[in-house]
Amino acid sequence: MENVEKIPTHIAIIMDGNGRWAKAQGKDRCEGHIEGVVSVKACIKAACKRGVRYLTLYAFSTENWGRPQEEVNALMELFCKSVTKETPELIEQGVRVRIIGRRDRFSEEVRERLLHIEESTKGGDKLTLVLAFDYSSRDEMVRATKAVAEKVQRGELSAEAIDDSVISAHLDTADIPDPDLIVRTSGECRLSNFLLWQASYAEMYFPQTMWPDFREEAFDKALEVYAQRERRYGLL
Ligand code: FPP
Repeated sequence: MENVEKIPTHIAIIMDGNGRWAKAQGKDRCEGHIEGVVSVKACIKAACKRGVRYLTLYAFSTENWGRPQEEVNALMELFCKSVTKETPELIEQGVRVRIIGRRDRFSEEVRERLLHIEESTKGGDKLTLVLAFDYSSRDEMVRATKAVAEKVQRGELSAEAIDDSVISAHLDTADIPDPDLIVRTSGECRLSNFLLWQASYAEMYFPQTMWPDFREEAFDKALEVYAQRERRYGLL
């Protein structure tokens, strides 16, 4: 690959198109999600190989609870099974897992699995894999705003002291750098409540590829697209 000096530090991906991929194959939607896990593994490997330091994946949005119960259950089960099965390999690859989003609406089993994967991978120093799970940006901002307001109320923070860095420090992504590149697969061109604050200066890339087809080659293509972008951060 050319332009390797322009590898993004942080790539965030909206994994879209599992259902359409499955439909096109005459399969059940859940089979699309199962195939999507193969893409998750391929992208983790590719990110490690190319030196990307943070990879954020939008795995389940706060709105996804509104899907048919059967699909929600299948996604929870797939998520639990995958993280448990893959933990040894993630540790071997030097991957640290961080979960962002709400925790209060999961079953006890899911909550425990999430804690376990974060705890058992905390020594990973090659790639931080951030899984957005029961996550939406507005929900994250509401929770952060409440936390800041409570500090002001307790007299620990003055309203005048609130700036960008104070807000950032109260988000789920507090110690994670903002994404350099946001990818949404399947040709949809919107952010759907994903990292709205953090996306301020991110480059956007919307390939047509459905998520189950987004493997190493597609990941490398995203890196190539990013390397050609010129980022100005509002300057000339
Ligand atoms: C969007 O496709 C995808 C999801 C809502 C789920 C994504 C989850 C996975 C790929 C499993 C993740 C697992 C781990 C371990 C991170 P869609 O169903 O909205 O597709 P459609 O728009 O074509 O219907």
